[in-house]
Amino acid sequence: MTSAITNIEDLRVLAQKRVPRMFYDYADSGSWTEGTYRANESDFQPIKFRQRVAIDMDNRSTVSTMVGQPVAMPVALAPVGLTGMQHADGEIKAARAAKAFGVPFTLSTMSICSIEDVAAGTGNHPFWFQVYVIRDRIFIERLIERARAAHCSALVLTLDLQILGQRHKDLKNGLSAPPKLTLANIANIMTKPQWALGMLGTKRRDFGNIVGHVTGVDDMGSLSEWSQKQFDPTLNWADVEWIKKRWGGKLILKGIQDVEDAKLAVASGADALIVSNHGGRQLDGAESSIRALPGIVDAVGSQIEVHMDGGIRSGQDVLKAVALGAKGVYIGRSFVYGLGAMGEAGVTKALEIIHREMDITMALCGKTNMAQVDKSILLRGSYPT
Ligand code: GLV
Repeated sequence: MTSAITNIEDLRVLAQKRVPRMFYDYADSGSWTEGTYRANESDFQPIKFRQRVAIDMDNRSTVSTMVGQPVAMPVALAPVGLTGMQHADGEIKAARAAKAFGVPFTLSTMSICSIEDVAAGTGNHPFWFQVYVIRDRIFIERLIERARAAHCSALVLTLDLQILGQRHKDLKNGLSAPPKLTLANIANIMTKPQWALGMLGTKRRDFGNIVGHVTGVDDMGSLSEWSQKQFDPTLNWADVEWIKKRWGGKLILKGIQDVEDAKLAVASGADALIVSNHGGRQLDGAESSIRALPGIVDAVGSQIEVHMDGGIRSGQDVLKAVALGAKGVYIGRSFVYGLGAMGEAGVTKALEIIHREMDITMALCGKTNMAQVDKSILLRGSYPT
């Protein structure tokens, strides 16, 4: 089975077979028409490489740094809600695979395994933690303290989810964690025996960072009510400053698509920003990340580290983003497909696939390391400016 898997699409197909529909759909959908979700992927296609020949391509390396931290390749695992519903203990499995590969893992606030579970499950290896600005500021303060205690080495603050973009599939599926035991859900889960067996063997089936840490939130009903009310529509740059002060460590701002916002991100003193439209899950109709990237790099790239996410399904996509000025990229769905397909081994497989594609493409463009990767590997006129 495993030997037949040679690209990320193979992992997606397998994940779709193995993961209950509501969780597969949660990961694999965008908001409204899903136009931005599709554009994130398809806008990579017109960008072409310059093939070079007879250049010494021995001794290649993909190592780099992101916010000053060494990475085996400039690819981090993105924060993804409900990762522990794609596979039992999913966040621990993904964090272990990332640790072994030498790339950052970012834990979402809306994860199933808690900050402490991931720290314990990875031998206290530092990971990154993603936080939302939610109304309950005491809860945020505590989350930040918990992230510090778990040796998290960067905080990723998401700015584009003050209000949730509407996703048709989630509404139709009645998404919840754990799934409600309706007839339709039971019938669907019965076709996913490996998933169900894994879930029976874990203690975590709800939001581990929240349940037990917020008074009055102890069952599914109270949890969903709490989450719906908590995203703070008043979020503004003063909140960013407040979080930066409380955290005091490396800060990455996620969800920047506009040059004006990128300039404000620089003014906030953050260490990096992520050009992101939340994987096409928030403002449908927004520009794809790869098209938004060059303008932001031009405007602020000399003042702040620019990262990007959205649509990365191959090592070639990574190289295109790096060539256009991204110091690092994040993969969300690409690792989640691997996790749903084969657990920890599937995440490792996703990282191996992407690494191999990057390495070979870099070589065929006549480059041997990340410092050499810039616009000169792309065909003039084929890339956004
Ligand atoms: C949350 O970040 C989501 O996109 O569902």
